[in-house]
Amino acid sequence: ASLRQLNTFGVDQRAARLVEVTDPGDLPEAVAMLAAAPERLVLGGGSNLLFTRDFAGTVLLLRTRGLRVIERSGGTSLVEAEAGESWDGLVRWTIAQGLGGLENLSLIPGSVGASPIQNIGAYGVEMRECFAGLDALDLDGTQQRSFTPGECAFGYRDSCFKKGDGRRWLIARVRFRLPDDWAPKLDYGDLREELERQGIGSATPADVASAVRAIRRRKLPDPAVLGNAGSFFKNPVIGREQAQELLARHPGLPSWPAGQATKLSAAWMIDRCGWKGRREGDAGVHSSHALVLVNHGNATGAQLLALAGRIRESVAERFGVMIEPEPTII
Ligand code: EPU
Repeated sequence: ASLRQLNTFGVDQRAARLVEVTDPGDLPEAVAMLAAAPERLVLGGGSNLLFTRDFAGTVLLLRTRGLRVIERSGGTSLVEAEAGESWDGLVRWTIAQGLGGLENLSLIPGSVGASPIQNIGAYGVEMRECFAGLDALDLDGTQQRSFTPGECAFGYRDSCFKKGDGRRWLIARVRFRLPDDWAPKLDYGDLREELERQGIGSATPADVASAVRAIRRRKLPDPAVLGNAGSFFKNPVIGREQAQELLARHPGLPSWPAGQATKLSAAWMIDRCGWKGRREGDAGVHSSHALVLVNHGNATGAQLLALAGRIRESVAERFGVMIEPEPTII
């Protein structure tokens, strides 16, 4: 089966076998089937991965649907979503239910089930801030279990599901706790200015969502038009001392505190190395955001990865900082 329509980079690779699951009740059987495959991959929206080769095993396409409010109490609402729901669909549905909390995460491509894996974040909010728990199936056995927020070990674009033994879990459904006494979070970047420009004084969740949508549409390419997987690199987190040295030499470099360490803008560094808008064949760097690699048509995963490698080297050479890819590379 071709994977081209199933990854937002639009890379043309194939999978030996593709199994689609739409009914949550069919998941245990599908997982049992995966156990026998030479390699396996659970695919949601395909918006955070790069195929560099054909996939010899089985791809499980998670298309389960279901959105519900399961509890309203103590000033919060508990919402549950099946993994195959689109993330942005969930955000829009919660807002339509009168529930705020997820609006800063509007228009992020991908599925609900993928959202905890890298703890998606944007405009000053991370998914973990509203996360209440999830149900998972064991890809290596028959176990099913729930995870509490603490058990997920969330970090910046990180969780236990991204590495080591944590990779054995298929996330089947996710719960979010949304507050009744909602207050907008507008401190990131140009969010406040965008609302002012739209003439909005006291913003509702829907107002914040539409401001975030407007900003994202200006800066980030629509994968339906131009293949991409959002930010290709994570913003590097380095020690505070090393950061101070670097910032003294490059005063314009945007930075944010990250616990005891400092997070640096990878986009700014890539931009300063002259990569923005560059193109090598069909693999390129987006013209309005240096952190986004794009497929202008028929780039292969290997070509995109080679371009990423050259970007990485030039940032290391000029700034002495290693940047790491954000998507899963297969
Ligand atoms: N910048 C440049 N050149 C560029 C783009 C940006 O110098 O080409 C500078 C901007 O001026 C700004 C700074 O870099 O001061 C940060 O840019 P931006 O606000 O766009 O955020 P980012 O750090 O590049 C992160 C997330 C995005 C998320 C935005 C907004 C990561 C890896 N990326 O990008 O998430 O939408 O913040 O919150 O943390 C994603 O993960 O796929 C993603 C798109």
